[in-house]
Amino acid sequence: MISFNISNKILHWYDNNKRDLPWRKPKSLQQSQYFTLVSEIMLQQTQVITVVPYFNKFIKELPNFVKLSNVSDKKLYKLWEGLGYYSRASNLKKAANIIVNKYKKKLPNTLKELKELPGIGEYTSRAILSLEFNKKVIPLDGNIERLLKRVLYLKRPDEISKTSLMEKVDFFGHSNRQRDYVQSLMELGALVCKPIDPKCNNCPITKYCSSFKYKDFKIKKKEKKNIIKYFESKVYINKNKIFLVKNNKFNFLKNFFIFPMHEINKNKFISSKLEKTEIKLSNIIMKIIINKRNNCPKEKGLFLNLKKIDEIILPSFTKKLYKLSQNLK
Ligand code: ADE
Repeated sequence: MISFNISNKILHWYDNNKRDLPWRKPKSLQQSQYFTLVSEIMLQQTQVITVVPYFNKFIKELPNFVKLSNVSDKKLYKLWEGLGYYSRASNLKKAANIIVNKYKKKLPNTLKELKELPGIGEYTSRAILSLEFNKKVIPLDGNIERLLKRVLYLKRPDEISKTSLMEKVDFFGHSNRQRDYVQSLMELGALVCKPIDPKCNNCPITKYCSSFKYKDFKIKKKEKKNIIKYFESKVYINKNKIFLVKNNKFNFLKNFFIFPMHEINKNKFISSKLEKTEIKLSNIIMKIIINKRNNCPKEKGLFLNLKKIDEIILPSFTKKLYKLSQNLK
């Protein structure tokens, strides 16, 4: 009974407050499926506000599964440039190929089949099942997770493990309008139950919220272990040219152009007198010595004319190192 009240209250709030997001305005069933897949993949590690312009450009250039399945990698990565986590883009294209060839341009509608698609895990499968097929499941995205932790006041490590949260999410119940209900939970998390300074005055379910009762809105996060690694990067800049190599050495940024670099130990990093920087790439904190050189490294690579920088896809990582190095002696 509580969950029936909750779902109705949240849906009512959503109907009056939802944002006008581009993936919520498909013009056909096929477009809806395509929009859902593309937006959910983009939203996996990126915030709504950043995703919107990328999404609009992406669907304008590649309006359906067929176009996506045939796109060149160069064009695909160009459309993705700046969003990061490029493996999402290549998996999306692979998934589109399977959807076109195996499923007649439609998304499959079972958890098992969805999870077999490249880049689609538990979260995205559940998102698709609810958002596209109106099935009574709730995907646990960051917003819904926060909402759940706040409402039920979940703080202990055993309460906030993924398994426990997946069980507890049923607290929200379901709705005949599951596709809207899931969006409404995400929206409530994003607009009202914000990470800091939640807007409880605008919340339709404060009456059921233990954090509101205790006036304690802190969110306990599962400790995510960052790894620190040390590198030396050989940055060769000569007038208008930089020297880059195609990375097939490290597991991150596979096949992208980076400055030549190698891993070093902590002592070497600490004792170096050269300029240093720190760049975070997912959970790796990369501590990097910038070894700006006059002589070009003897490796197989590419001299990139800076005037042609827009013609190749450079990860933000490489751009950052270039920017930092530019002004160094
Ligand atoms: N986060 C993940 N999926 C989302 C969606 N469909 N709408 C808004 N935020 C989201």
